[in-house]
Amino acid sequence: MADTRKIYVLNGPNLNMLGTREPEIYGYDTLDDIAERMEDAAHRAHVEIDFRQSNHEGHLVDWVQEAHREGAHAIIMNPGAYTHTSIALHDAIKSITVPVIEIHLSNPHTREAFRHKSYVGMAAKGTIAGFGAMSYMLALEAALEL
Ligand code: DQA
Repeated sequence: MADTRKIYVLNGPNLNMLGTREPEIYGYDTLDDIAERMEDAAHRAHVEIDFRQSNHEGHLVDWVQEAHREGAHAIIMNPGAYTHTSIALHDAIKSITVPVIEIHLSNPHTREAFRHKSYVGMAAKGTIAGFGAMSYMLALEAALEL
């Protein structure tokens, strides 16, 4: 029987530049490559993926609230630099019951000090970081188990 669980995958600023953006840190996969891989895995697992990217903080807040209203199963979120600055995203995540899995391609803890604090991580169910594009796939596996 078809599973109607829907998982939002929300990507923050500059992640539309993946593939050419600092590839020594973020790799050569584009966001479309990652979306395609996730769609395939989601199809096999009979769940629905809603994959989005925005450079605007408010869009991400709106989408977190939308996921809640729509009764999403989980949110997988790479908030980009908003990870380290956004109390609005922290509050949005705190406002909902949908579990949020924070992800990063790189491991922010091995990088500049300003990346060591995560306002999103402080509100998220868990964090997966440092595995490149595989962070997305690992998060999907985790989301399926929730
Ligand atoms: C990132 C890490 C952030 O510190 C950075 O601002 C990004 C990408 C990652 O996926 O490794 O934009 O979220």
